[in-house]
Amino acid sequence: MNNRANHSQALSIGIRAFTTMKSRYGTIIAAALLVFSRVCLADGAASDPPGTNLQKTVETCTACHGAGGRSVSPTFPILAAQTAPYIELQLHAFKDQSRADPDAQAYMWGMAAQLDDASIKGLAEYFSKQSATPGRSGNAALMAKGKQIFTEGVPARQIVACVNCHGAHAEGNGPFPRLAGQHAPYLLKQLLVIQSVLRTAPVMHGVIKDLNREQMQAVVTYLEGI
Ligand code: HEC
Ligand code: HEC
Repeated sequence: MNNRANHSQALSIGIRAFTTMKSRYGTIIAAALLVFSRVCLADGAASDPPGTNLQKTVETCTACHGAGGRSVSPTFPILAAQTAPYIELQLHAFKDQSRADPDAQAYMWGMAAQLDDASIKGLAEYFSKQSATPGRSGNAALMAKGKQIFTEGVPARQIVACVNCHGAHAEGNGPFPRLAGQHAPYLLKQLLVIQSVLRTAPVMHGVIKDLNREQMQAVVTYLEGI
């Protein structure tokens, strides 16, 4: 847990106490608690060496996203080597609750609510600079089919090539995320929530609205493998 999380926990305990205790005595204790937690916040900011808070926040993130953002569990997307502008955009989208697919709500809304603009920038920069996870090859036939979709699209269904936006090696570019080496189950889940508009991503939705499940499986197998 980072300092800020501890302090905001103290703050919310204070607020809860403040609203539930009706007696005058209770109100005084609650008010004291509020002052105490504010003092802690100010203290923490003054006594920590620069970068300490960011480092503590990074530790919170890596509990799920893995050391350096190289998660090993497909439940948690890899953040290492992701583009900084994309990470920043997504953290803001979790914070303002515009990225609202069920797992975003369950895992990331609470996390992002605690981050200010400076922390979001610092975290985006930190994870973008971590070394990428090497690809993990899957079924060769699926990978070949996925590569074709990635580089050529599916002309029969008017699906444009992914390479146009995500880069020749799926390395990403600014707001277009890196997809290379990402966990296939995570990528598949995102294609499904974007297609069903549970996750609002208008550009991507337009591109993949007619991509079928088999084509999705092929392209995500290819992406995990590179
Ligand atoms: C309790 C586990 C957990 C913690 C802690 C956590 N995350 Fe996440 N994070 C997730 C899950 C699960 C997702 C995927 C959400 C989805 O499917 O929409 C996610 C998604 C993300 C994404 C979007 C990735 C992408 O490719 O679109 C970013 C960026 C992110 N997290 C950053 C962070 C940062 C920064 C922190 C620390 C402040 C953090 N996360 C802490 C579980 C966690
Ligand atoms: C016209 C540009 C464009 C094209 C073409 C495109 N994408 Fe995207 N893609 C985006 C943008 C922009 C986002 C980020 C959406 C957001 O901000 O939420 C994205 C996000 C994604 C994500 C979610 C990544 C994550 O980490 O959560 C996946 C998966 C994805 N694209 C796969 C594909 C595939 C597969 C294709 C080809 C069939 C494709 N994209 C073609 C622009 C594009």
